[in-house]
Amino acid sequence: MRSSTRSAVDPFIVMDVMQAASAAEAAGRHIIHMEVGQPGTGAPRGAVSALGQAMDRGALGYTVALGLPALRARIAQMYGEWYNVDLDPSRVVITPGSSGAFILAFTALFDTGDRVGIGAPGYPSYRQILKALALEPVDLPTSPENRYQPVPDDFSGMDLAGLMVASPANPTGTMLDRDAIAALVGACDAAGTSFISDEIYHGIEYDKKAVTALEVTDDCYVINSFSKYFSMTGWRVGWMVVPEDHVRVIERIAQNMFICAPHASQIAALAAMDCDAELQGNMDVYRANRTLMLEGLTEAGFTRIAPPDGAFYVYADVSDLTDDSRSFAAEILEKAGVAVTPGLDFDPARGQSTLRFSYARSTADIAEGLARLKAFMAAR
Ligand SMILES: Cc1ncc(COP(=O)(O)O)c(C=O)c1O
Repeated sequence: MRSSTRSAVDPFIVMDVMQAASAAEAAGRHIIHMEVGQPGTGAPRGAVSALGQAMDRGALGYTVALGLPALRARIAQMYGEWYNVDLDPSRVVITPGSSGAFILAFTALFDTGDRVGIGAPGYPSYRQILKALALEPVDLPTSPENRYQPVPDDFSGMDLAGLMVASPANPTGTMLDRDAIAALVGACDAAGTSFISDEIYHGIEYDKKAVTALEVTDDCYVINSFSKYFSMTGWRVGWMVVPEDHVRVIERIAQNMFICAPHASQIAALAAMDCDAELQGNMDVYRANRTLMLEGLTEAGFTRIAPPDGAFYVYADVSDLTDDSRSFAAEILEKAGVAVTPGLDFDPARGQSTLRFSYARSTADIAEGLARLKAFMAAR
């Protein structure tokens, strides 16, 4: 049977690494996982018990397309608590993960063939989802001087229909401060470019609080999720904040594409928002891991790194060690028993000389992984 040209998207290379790591585990080896971009912890206990009670009470059928009103209201309240932003709950849309939000946002904002700027390195699925929707992703190569975040000069005169940014970013963990967001928003405004801010790693920040684009403008799409700070990757629930006059547009698309985000997950997500103590416990682990990583990677010989402001990744320039990050990652897995991600997923043009290390797992795992990396590099 014929398949569409737009379905010819690239695979996630990290999945190949995970496959190789699980093959090694099946053969009896012990592997430290620094490739996976998800918390090692599960949903907060309060979320799980709230869902248990809800399952005893009712059928958990469809919710309305925009999501449970109580969850939308609680998210709006969080914008007041976290950022001092007064947000109308009617602008909050519950989505099937932030991945579902990208599909809704790109469909609502762009027409076939529109060009959308994405920073490189960046989260690989932006590019692939745009392609699958017959849109044109435009890589904007960012520089270490700008901490791998786009600046207005990177897209001036490019006639972009949209700009997608992430802060803290994957794979670098670097953040855009208020002035940097304001500069990007101003440039987008002047060029008629829609501004989309992926804020999925908010809450996982170290020295200073991440800034939401909503502190700067209401004329943007903000996308977030329960996957990272709230530690609920598999529950597939996220949210989006859109301008008031876009709510109905999104509602119509969501009704048709998804009907709703999973009801059970929405119940759990609402309860998760009141599980601060447990979630801050997870943060203590990430904070300890980050300190170990910055010291340990440097000691091992991975010295060209931009210290992450948030998320749980370190992106390393390994151009002094290899020009083939894929085979270097395979060698690290084979000889050190540590799974890491080659940069090609995040930056097709320059990722052959970069690696991403994730420190989302337990501190004991991170310490063991770093010890193995040090021994591997010393023997190289
Ligand atoms: C920057 C970024 N955005 C979005 C996602 C997708 O997350 P979700 O589980 O909410 O679909 C990820 C997942 O790793 C990510 O790193």
